[in-house]
Amino acid sequence: MAIDLTNKPIAITGAGSGIGRATALACAGAGMPVALSGRREEPLRAVAAEIERAGGRAVVVPGDVTSPTDCARLIERCVERFGSVYSVFANAGYGQEAPAHEMTDDDIRAMFETNFFGTLNTIRPAVPHMLRARAGHILVCSSCVAKFALPFFSVYSATKAAQNHLSRGMNLELRPHGVSVSSVHPVGTRTEFFDTAMRRSASGRLIKHTPDAFFQSPERVARAIVRCLRRPRPEVWTSLSVRLGMSLGMLLPGLSDRALRRMVDQRLREGEGAGPTAHAPPHPEGASA
Ligand SMILES: NC(=O)c1ccc[n+]([C@@H]2O[C@H](COP(=O)([O-])OP(=O)(O)OC[C@H]3O[C@@H](n4cnc5c(N)ncnc54)[C@H](OP(=O)(O)O)[C@@H]3O)[C@@H](O)[C@H]2O)c1
Repeated sequence: MAIDLTNKPIAITGAGSGIGRATALACAGAGMPVALSGRREEPLRAVAAEIERAGGRAVVVPGDVTSPTDCARLIERCVERFGSVYSVFANAGYGQEAPAHEMTDDDIRAMFETNFFGTLNTIRPAVPHMLRARAGHILVCSSCVAKFALPFFSVYSATKAAQNHLSRGMNLELRPHGVSVSSVHPVGTRTEFFDTAMRRSASGRLIKHTPDAFFQSPERVARAIVRCLRRPRPEVWTSLSVRLGMSLGMLLPGLSDRALRRMVDQRLREGEGAGPTAHAPPHPEGASA
């Protein structure tokens, strides 16, 4: 039977934009009070106002996921304001386009700090509440690139694979105690993600060859997340064709590498004479939807 989400509070990181924002609105629409977090306060306030205008409940708790203290405050404020924390969506994250060997240790560690350790920081303070209640649902925003190594996004893909493994393992550990853990695997989604990646990429030349039509909306991801909250399962995919493609790629890694090599070769030909980041293939998360 589907779980009734009414009055089950959820805390969401990266809730001021993109997938986090759309998920906050969709969860509020399903009757969930929402604790909204992110570093910039203004977009969070705008999302809270939108939720409240529609009759929902929201609290804004600005913070940085790389700070365990900020994450603990998010969960504390959620419990103070709404009486409990039923769900957490560890969604905050970013990408950077660069060949792995050209990224500095600082860049690589910073991405793991946000994408992987930020996820742990967000989840950890909520788990004791969920265990006490013997109910809860943790969601982690991974990516379709968790399932294959993508050239020029190798480090980003590694952070997403780490999140995926963390979720799958934690789901097995916590399910017996009534707590579900799911990883979310969006394909290319129209959000600020690409602006951020562009700013962070060494040459500032993030290449987006994929036509806009191939990108999905953050609302589509949000709807899939709400479906998963109602009927928990280990992984959330928003595109059946990509999911099947990923499964085939894992079964036959040589085949998927051949396809990726063709993309790289094509970019190398097109980017002749330019810097290394100009050689990137189309953005992975925009490769198919
Ligand atoms: N867009 C895609 O194609 C796509 C595909 C697959 C997976 N994803 C994943 O989806 C998640 C959400 O990304 P998005 O696409 O919705 O892009 P987005 O609009 O850029 O959202 C990322 C959010 O994370 C927040 N954030 C970043 N660093 C943070 C930090 N240190 N502490 C707290 N919040 C932080 C940002 O807000 P502040 O800057 O205000 O902190 C922003 O609201 C990411 O984990 C991304 O890897 C995206």
